Amino acid sequence: MRATVVVFLSLAMQAALAAGDAKRGAQLFQQCMACHSVEEGEHMTGPSLAHVWHRKAGTVEGFMRYSDALKSANVIWDEATLDKWLANPERFAPGTSMTFPGLKAPKDRADVAAYLKAVAENSAPPAGRGDMGMRGGKADLRKAPPEAQVKALSHCGDTYTVETADGKKNKVWEFNLRLKTDSSKLGPLPGNPVVVGAGMQGDRASIVFASPKEISGFIKQSCP
Ligand code: HEC
Repeated sequence: MRATVVVFLSLAMQAALAAGDAKRGAQLFQQCMACHSVEEGEHMTGPSLAHVWHRKAGTVEGFMRYSDALKSANVIWDEATLDKWLANPERFAPGTSMTFPGLKAPKDRADVAAYLKAVAENSAPPAGRGDMGMRGGKADLRKAPPEAQVKALSHCGDTYTVETADGKKNKVWEFNLRLKTDSSKLGPLPGNPVVVGAGMQGDRASIVFASPKEISGFIKQSCP
């Protein structure tokens, strides 16, 4: 009797490990969302993971930043290869640009793999918290509120003055302001740069432009 229970339990556990729990995997995927989206074609620090299941590593269309290490890894993503990759990316592909320490628990890796499989099959439960206005962790800059829309940007001495559509002017030390571009469909419209990050305070303010050629033309050299 006892032996039957033990056999039954271990079989059940094996089945659970082999299958992986996509719903739990979707929650665990929060750790990946700073760098990965599961929207097709939405590349961030890492490639879109919409269709990695059963695809050769390093071959997602439109992602231009694969390391040579991953491009030459010559693996197909499935339960077994994802298990090894997610346990320790650097050991799996030495020189990879995925700076992620790895998921220590085998069950976590199986669940994330099950989630990526479900994503590819279009049956995935929603990942993370599903924040409003965010898709895969990236905001739609075309819907920025007035206080984030940059109307004018001037430079004097070591200081930028940022004028936003709500009529406010903020002075920022030049070393604290980052100028970025976002050419994706979530990026700003041409000529309409947007402030992102921790508002205008501290060293994390960024102004995002639609393309690099806009940047210097937008900045006026003028002192009050
Ligand atoms: C700090 C950013 C970062 C985090 C966090 C991160 N990744 Fe990545 N990921 C990357 C980068 C960059 C690459 C490309 C690596 C390369 O080319 O060497 C990548 C590649 C991948 C690939 C291979 C894709 C392909 O096209 O072959 C998979 C699968 C993957 N990541 C899954 C995950 C999962 C699952 C998590 C969370 C558990 C995660 N990543 C967390 C940055 C990240």
